[in-house]
Amino acid sequence: MSGWRMSRHFLGSPASITEARRFVTTFLKGWPSLESAELIVSELATNAVRHSASGRFGGLFIVTIRVNHRRLWLGVADEGGPRSPELLPAYEEAEGGRGLMLVSILATGWGVLGDHNGRTVWAVLDPAPAMAVDR
Ligand SMILES: Nc1ncnc2c1ncn2[C@@H]1O[C@H](COP(=O)(O)OP(=O)(O)OP(=O)(O)O)[C@@H](O)[C@H]1O
Ligand SMILES: [Mg+2]
Repeated sequence: MSGWRMSRHFLGSPASITEARRFVTTFLKGWPSLESAELIVSELATNAVRHSASGRFGGLFIVTIRVNHRRLWLGVADEGGPRSPELLPAYEEAEGGRGLMLVSILATGWGVLGDHNGRTVWAVLDPAPAMAVDR
């Protein structure tokens, strides 16, 4: 079997960002792009808490890790809301906009599924050769 999938719910509070990162560390221990995966999930979890309805009292977000033929898919599902994830132009970086920029640089691909009822921001990291060194 070359694939597996793991999901976990987190409370939509700032304290959960560290937990979400630890979830990735635990399940991707020894993975060549572990550091990138940790950063991506930290940024996406931060966004879910800060910008989506997951950050409201009692809100939740879900982190999913999927591995298939050494290709890694990471997803953070939130509870939606009026705003949607967008890559901000570079000139706004001083005001923020580093999160998704970082995700777009680290990941082979990324995107958003869903609508105001709930969105999943996902990122894919390319298949890791057995002896690959982290980027
Ligand atoms: N899960 C989300 N739900 C709703 N809107 C989002 C979500 N993630 C990001 N956004 C929107 O996309 C914008 C860009 O996100 P990004 O993470 O790049 O920057 P930021 O969170 O504003 O700042 P930084 O990550 O640098 O602290 C956000 O300002 C927000 O408006
Ligand atoms: Mg952000």
